[in-house]
Amino acid sequence: MSTAAADSPGHGADDRSVSKVDLFSQAAARAGSYISQERVGRVFPSRESLQALNALTDWSLAHPLPAEEVVDRLADIGAASAVRSTGGRYFGFVTGGTEPTALAASLLSLAWDQNGALPAMSPMVSTIDTLAARWIVELLGLPTQAVASFCGGASVANLIAVVAARDSLLAARGWSVAESGLRGAPTVHVITSRESHSSVGKALRIAGWGSAEIHQVDTDELGRLRVDDMPNVTGPVVIVAQMGNVNTGHCDPINEIADWADARFSAGNYWIHIDGAFGLWAAASPRQRHHAVGVDRAHSWATDAHKWLNTPYDCGVVIARDGMDLRRAMSATAAYLPGDSATADAGWSDELREPMHLGLQMSQAARSIPVFAELAVLGSNGVAELVDRCCRHAERLASLLAEGGVDIPAPPGLNQTLARFDSDTTTDAVVNAIQDGGRCWAGATTWNGRRAMRLSVCDVSTTADDIETSAQAILAAWDSVTG
Ligand SMILES: Cc1ncc(COP(=O)(O)O)c(C=O)c1O
Repeated sequence: MSTAAADSPGHGADDRSVSKVDLFSQAAARAGSYISQERVGRVFPSRESLQALNALTDWSLAHPLPAEEVVDRLADIGAASAVRSTGGRYFGFVTGGTEPTALAASLLSLAWDQNGALPAMSPMVSTIDTLAARWIVELLGLPTQAVASFCGGASVANLIAVVAARDSLLAARGWSVAESGLRGAPTVHVITSRESHSSVGKALRIAGWGSAEIHQVDTDELGRLRVDDMPNVTGPVVIVAQMGNVNTGHCDPINEIADWADARFSAGNYWIHIDGAFGLWAAASPRQRHHAVGVDRAHSWATDAHKWLNTPYDCGVVIARDGMDLRRAMSATAAYLPGDSATADAGWSDELREPMHLGLQMSQAARSIPVFAELAVLGSNGVAELVDRCCRHAERLASLLAEGGVDIPAPPGLNQTLARFDSDTTTDAVVNAIQDGGRCWAGATTWNGRRAMRLSVCDVSTTADDIETSAQAILAAWDSVTG
């Protein structure tokens, strides 16, 4: 593609023939027809459909196109090549689909284009942010004073939380990271499990801990941290637990971990962070809450709205028991910013709620808008029902596969199912066949040293029929592989 200066006039902002309203309506209509077809046809595009992408390489900076044509052609190419992760039969990674109200509210939010950094930039977003954050804390049964803040995803939420943990534990020892940095600071230990998500390791690395400094605790047969393997360290210590093992879906025993820490360390000497990118939502369901016993005893939590809550990307949530801990770690000052952003340790009040001081970003999308709209429609019962339904589907999928002779190496935890077929080679071949076949989509993983198909049920639109159809497709793929 040419990057030369334009040699033909553009068709952009000052072209009066382009109406913003018309373009928006055109795009909305095309998006609507995509949605009407999202359950139809292949889940993952065929190689032939992906050829549609080649057309994009003919576009060039030197030859701008009319806006209507760009929207039209993008809509054609996108519809042909998009992965139908919102169509009920996509079980790859832990992706989630789009809940209709959240999707519709995102569209409004795009049109409003609010900067959610500060109340001064958008009083409307500020109000919605505060309310949505409170609802999340309430839904998850966390301490009422806890403060939630929206961010790009659980990886970012984990990073914000471990930085807040580090700075808070050091502050309790009279050490200000903001003033003195990390060189020469008292040692802060870290304990996590061998099964914690890679984003936790990445967050810890960015926050200053090398892998050799991290105590990695053994896990049980379901991938849960074994409290009896926790090391004898002296404080201060950050303990990173997980709700929702990425393979099995099972949760670390939070209550026992909190008991273990309580018995060894005084307050201010330990910090429990829970990475619950998807599994934290178990706490929102009375039926699943037994997985979350003790969840309210942690100091911080990370989760995603874009996974199991089914908002569009990208929407993660970091929550801290004390909002001042987020503010101490994340605040930034500038002469042009309103108010006093100093990190007074005076305690949290809602007037201090300025999203840019509770996370990494200054300018930011109004991520709370789709969350707020969805929660307004679902209410707490609707969220619990969404969680329960996905768990039921995951169970059903496992039993249909087991009835067909497939090995289920771990009972499904929450919304995750693992499946093994004869040998590692056959398992990989079945996964490939399923991905090529197009009726549903699942990924592969290694669990307990052996290959497994990994199925995550977290799309709001998945039905019981989708589960039956997908189980049949998987059994048929196994048949075809083994001849
Ligand atoms: C347990 C866990 N933690 C963290 C993450 C990272 O989340 P994100 O992709 O939203 O950054 C994931 C992603 O799948 C996850 O499953």
